[in-house]
Amino acid sequence: MPDTQDFEPRILLYCCQWCSYTAADLAGAMRLSYPPNVYIVRVPCTGRVDMLHLLKPLEEGADAVYVSGCLPGECHYVSGNLKAAKRVARVQKILQELGIDPERVGMVYNSASMGPQFAQCCRDITERIRALGPLYGSAPSDKEPVPLEAAAQ
Ligand code: FES
Repeated sequence: MPDTQDFEPRILLYCCQWCSYTAADLAGAMRLSYPPNVYIVRVPCTGRVDMLHLLKPLEEGADAVYVSGCLPGECHYVSGNLKAAKRVARVQKILQELGIDPERVGMVYNSASMGPQFAQCCRDITERIRALGPLYGSAPSDKEPVPLEAAAQ
């Protein structure tokens, strides 16, 4: 079992520019704190996030990759968030087949006015991943990087 006491997870969070990134901005403007473990990457729409965008960061050292989109039914490009959710589900399945906890990838939804919820969401994800421990410490081959390239094909 990995030692999670001093573990600071590195979490990548793709945020769509219309809702979730604005929610992150709002959380900042409201001076709400959330863990610095979450690295935000702004994308035009979560529909732009493909499976490789989810797998590659895990291969390169992230402990988790999450996607935050507009609320269901409110994507500015109609269904980008629904497509992203399907890709997240597919990657979760791949991770499961590799013996990796599927919660290392996930989909959340935050509208532009949800600054406090966004901050809470970041805290929740961080605690969830902290409890799982480091990705490479939990891989079947111990500290070796998990070969995800084959799985992404
Ligand atoms: Fe926000 Fe598509 S614009 S998820």
